[in-house]
Amino acid sequence: MVGKDLYVIVCAAGPAGDVGRLVALAQDEGWTVQIVATPSALDFVDVPALEAQTGRPVRSRYRKPSEPKPSRADAIVAAPASFNTVNKFAQGIADTYALGLLAEAPGLGIPVVVLPFVNGALAGRAPFRRSVDQLRSEGVQVLPGDGEFYPQPADFPWHLALRHL
Ligand SMILES: Cc1cc2nc3c(=O)[nH]c(=O)nc-3n(C[C@H](O)[C@H](O)[C@H](O)COP(=O)(O)O)c2cc1C
Repeated sequence: MVGKDLYVIVCAAGPAGDVGRLVALAQDEGWTVQIVATPSALDFVDVPALEAQTGRPVRSRYRKPSEPKPSRADAIVAAPASFNTVNKFAQGIADTYALGLLAEAPGLGIPVVVLPFVNGALAGRAPFRRSVDQLRSEGVQVLPGDGEFYPQPADFPWHLALRHL
């Protein structure tokens, strides 16, 4: 996989500020990492630090029509994935650049791993459970598993995302 592009989609959820840990793990495995933050997640992450780490601009909005098309992802990890983005992804909503990438990925055959960080009050909601089932039925890997969507931020299992690619 050396040199392949891994898109890391980061949402506005608890562990977002530590996404550099996932970047380091991925780079150790030979991935070139592109960070895509949701607009809300920009308040959670250190953009200059991530740009220095990846050597690429953090992207958070759709390009203008006049701007060049970026290279296609070879794989996508959404981590941490918020309640909001998981539900929108399942419904086919594409109103952020991150969701636009996710919306197309299953149809393009791009592997997608989603690592939600959602508290117990939200993880038990019927819409969220339906979203997880829907995404899995389309081949999206939603981790870690039933009933385990709300670890403490410090315990967030970044390493699982790469293991399941
Ligand atoms: C400090 C703070 C922490 C939050 N933590 C979480 C979280 O851990 N998980 C989650 O699903 N939403 C969390 N939210 C709510 C999301 O940020 C909110 O739903 C937002 O609209 C998500 O946008 P996005 O999915 O485009 O990133 C948090 C909000 C704030 C202000």
